[in-house]
Amino acid sequence: MSKQNNELKLKHLFDGGEWNVYDPSVLNLGVGAPGTDLLEPCCDIFDQATAHCLKNEKVVNQSLIFQYGPTNGTHKIRNEIAKYLTEMYESPVHSEDLIVTTGASQGLHFLLSTMIDFNGYIFVDEYTYMIALDSMKHFSSLTIVPLKLNDDGVDLNDLEVKVRDRRFNSEKKEFWAIYYTIPTYHNPTGILFSPTVCRGIVELSRKYDFLVLCDDVYNILHYGNKPLHSRLLSYDSRTDADYVGNVISNGSFSKIIAPGVRLGWLEVPPRVQPQLLRSGIINSGGCFNNYTAGIVGSLFELNLAQPHIARLYAAYKDRMLAVNKVLESELPKTCKCLVPSGGYFIWIRMPDHLKASEFLEYCLKHEKITFIAGPRFAVEEGKGEQFFRLSIAFHKKEKLVDGIIRLCLALKSYMNIVKT
Ligand SMILES: Cc1ncc(COP(=O)(O)O)c(C=O)c1O
Repeated sequence: MSKQNNELKLKHLFDGGEWNVYDPSVLNLGVGAPGTDLLEPCCDIFDQATAHCLKNEKVVNQSLIFQYGPTNGTHKIRNEIAKYLTEMYESPVHSEDLIVTTGASQGLHFLLSTMIDFNGYIFVDEYTYMIALDSMKHFSSLTIVPLKLNDDGVDLNDLEVKVRDRRFNSEKKEFWAIYYTIPTYHNPTGILFSPTVCRGIVELSRKYDFLVLCDDVYNILHYGNKPLHSRLLSYDSRTDADYVGNVISNGSFSKIIAPGVRLGWLEVPPRVQPQLLRSGIINSGGCFNNYTAGIVGSLFELNLAQPHIARLYAAYKDRMLAVNKVLESELPKTCKCLVPSGGYFIWIRMPDHLKASEFLEYCLKHEKITFIAGPRFAVEEGKGEQFFRLSIAFHKKEKLVDGIIRLCLALKSYMNIVKT
């Protein structure tokens, strides 16, 4: 074992090897993050927002932005987020329901560590956000249970059977189990959960009293007609006679402003808020990201965030529509893909005898193109080999379109080599 830690001097998360998204010799179609062209305006708008925020701190706020912040974040930032989301979701978001986080990844970790019995269960879709799975595995006493996914969302029968069989009364934590999902433009499948499935999930969560954590980082990125619902949480209506408060929405500015900013929010029911705000991790440090939240508050107040988000949205939409058009004509007919109406990802299913990990090697060798093979998103070992995920977020449209055409050609030639 080495006695020294490595110092790689990386500039970003995707640095190094075939994952270096900035390496011009390899086209990386796997990265779920906004590209350089989309982040470029950030220096200028954050410059203005920082000057505005710090001037206010100096002149009228006794520099309190540098103090430990209120546990849920200042009223100002929660109010700005609530105002913006209410407009985008076209359904009310209340500032008092929000808790500022450093992004959805931290939101998930925070909830797992505070709300779920350590001998309990995490229900997840059979294919899900791979790094969320990595986080869950740190909680090694929790059991991860995969659920069948249909084209309109999780299979409600499967959810009910698996939940019913495992339910127990937790004496130590508020919930015996959590269902983690991405109901709006799911990662990796691109699925938008239907109203029927959303309603069904809420009914089951009430019946068996488990927590539903919606990873809502792609919610406002819809490229077709607006969906009937903005988020699954809106089905857990407080006016229902049997309302208890079982759903949390876990949001983030990573995909719509910039991931390096590390700012997000949890939208939580009154039932869980006091427990979260009493936890040591938030009470010891105060608001998880007080300084940055202040700057982003000014970004909204100065109306700099809104057009920036609109720019990212327009670029993503343009990219997704262009890629879908290419796939419609170029993807081999024996492959299948659900045409996503929003978000970042396209999930392609190859004929069952093919393996995405082997096609990935072929693609890298012949076209210098990479993507993420299905097994990385699967809970169960050996599953997902016939799938792979593409992302539209990072590269400009022309580069993406050229890459997808080449990928489809490579797929055709690979399929000719690997016959049944
Ligand atoms: C479903 C999902 N959740 C969370 C994240 C990460 O969010 P954050 O940057 O807010 O931690 C990603 C990023 O790829 C994601 O796809």
